[in-house]
Amino acid sequence: MTDLLPPAMASFTIPPTVITGIGAAEQAGEQAKRLGARTALVVTDNGIVKLGYADELVNLLHRVGIGASIFSDVTPDPTLQNVNDGLEQYREEACNLIISIGGGSAIDCGKGIAIRLTNDGELAEFMGVNKIPNPGGPLIAIPTTGGTGSECTKATVITDTEHNVKMMLSSPCAVPEVAIVDPLLSLSTPPHLTSAVGVDALTHAIEAYISKRAQPITDALALEAIRMISGSLRQAWADGENIEARTEMMVAASIAGMAFSNSSVALVHGMSRPIGAYFHVHHGLSNAVLLLDVMEYSVVGAPDRFADIARAMGEPIDGLSPMCQADAAINSVERLVNDLHMPRLGEIGIDQPKFEAVVDQMASDALASGSPGNNPRQPTKEEIVGLYHRCFQPRQV
Ligand SMILES: NC(=O)c1ccc[n+]([C@@H]2O[C@H](COP(=O)([O-])OP(=O)(O)OC[C@H]3O[C@@H](n4cnc5c(N)ncnc54)[C@H](O)[C@@H]3O)[C@@H](O)[C@H]2O)c1
Ligand SMILES: [Fe+2]
Repeated sequence: MTDLLPPAMASFTIPPTVITGIGAAEQAGEQAKRLGARTALVVTDNGIVKLGYADELVNLLHRVGIGASIFSDVTPDPTLQNVNDGLEQYREEACNLIISIGGGSAIDCGKGIAIRLTNDGELAEFMGVNKIPNPGGPLIAIPTTGGTGSECTKATVITDTEHNVKMMLSSPCAVPEVAIVDPLLSLSTPPHLTSAVGVDALTHAIEAYISKRAQPITDALALEAIRMISGSLRQAWADGENIEARTEMMVAASIAGMAFSNSSVALVHGMSRPIGAYFHVHHGLSNAVLLLDVMEYSVVGAPDRFADIARAMGEPIDGLSPMCQADAAINSVERLVNDLHMPRLGEIGIDQPKFEAVVDQMASDALASGSPGNNPRQPTKEEIVGLYHRCFQPRQV
C-alpha cells in the first residue's frame, strides 16, 4: 500500500459502494447492517445536529437494530484534538463502525478516526501520499455539502493547531467503504456556503485535469464534473430549493473528488491550505480567492488542457487561436465567480499586517505540501509570494 507507482503508471481507487440520488440517505441503516455494525459512532458537527440530520440517521440505525453514539464536536477544518476525542468516544462506547455525516470537516474527522483505529502512531507520521500502513476501520460517509467530494476521496485534511499546518494525508487506506450522496441534505446550505463549496468542487476538477498526474480515467471524470458544475452552480446558489441543480452539484462534487483523488490537486490548493491554517478561512472560499490569478499564472504550462476546460464550460471557442481558446477557460471561470459574488483575498477580513508577517512562511508551507509540484507551471517561492500579493489586491487584468 505504501509504494508509489512508476511515473508511466497510474492507479484508481474509489469507494467500493457509492449510492447517489434523492432520498439516498435512507439507505444508511441497510448499509451499516451489511457492514456488520453493532454500534456506530456518528461523527458530525453541531450545525448538522441542529438541522436534525444526526437524529434522523440515529433513527434509521435503530430501525435496523443498530445502536449509535453521536460525536458532534467536529470543528470546521478538523483538528488532531477532534480526531483524538472521537477515537476515545469510539472506544468507550465499543463502536464497530464510523458514520460521518456533514461537510468535508465531519467526513475528514471520521477518516482520521478510522486511520487511527488500525494504525499505530500519530496522524502526523502519515502525512503525504501513500504513507498509511493499514486500511482504516469501516467508514460510511454522507456529505451534506456539494462540496469537497471527501466521501469519494483518498484524502483527509486534519489541522495541527500547534504548528498552524493543515496536514494532508492521501492513501487508498483512507477511502470510505460506502459513500451515500443525497441532494436533499444539501438543500439547507445557505448561498455563501453553496458558492464556496461549489467553487471548491470546480477547483478540484480543474486542478485534476491540468495536474501532471492526470490520467485518462480522471480526465473523463474531471471534464464531466466541470460541465455539470458550470451548468448548475449558479442555479443552486440563486435558488437553494432547486433540486435539479442541487442534485447535479452533489453528484458533480463526488465526481470531482474521484478525479482529484486519483490525479492530484495543484497550486491553488497548495496555496489555499496555508490561508486556512493561518486565518481560518473556509476552504472553498480560500480556493475561490486564488483561483483566477493562479489559472492565469498556470495557463502557459497547459494551454490545450485549458481549452478543453473552456469547451466543457460551454464556451464557443472553435476557430480561435490556441491561446485565446485557453484564455476562454479563465474568462468563463471569472464570469462564474463574479455571478456568485465571490470576494478577493483582500476582502475577507484578513488583517494585512498579519498577512505580510506570514506570507513568506505561507509560501514555504505551500511548496512543502507538494501540491504545487503537480502544477503545469512550476512556481518558485518568490512567485508564490507574488501571487499571494496579487490576489490580495483588486483584480488586475
Ligand atoms: N478530504 C478531502 O478530499 C477534502 C477535499 C476538499 C476539502 N476538504 C476539507 O473539507 C473541509 C471543508 O468542508 P466543507 O466545505 O464541506 O465545510 P465544513 O464541513 O467545514 O462545514 C462548514 C459549515 O457548514 C455547515 N453545514 C454543513 N452542511 C450543511 C447543510 N447541509 N446546511 C447548512 N449548513 C451546513 C457545518 O455545520 C459547518 O458549520 C476543510 O477542512 C477542507 O480542508 C477535504
Ligand atoms: Fe478542496
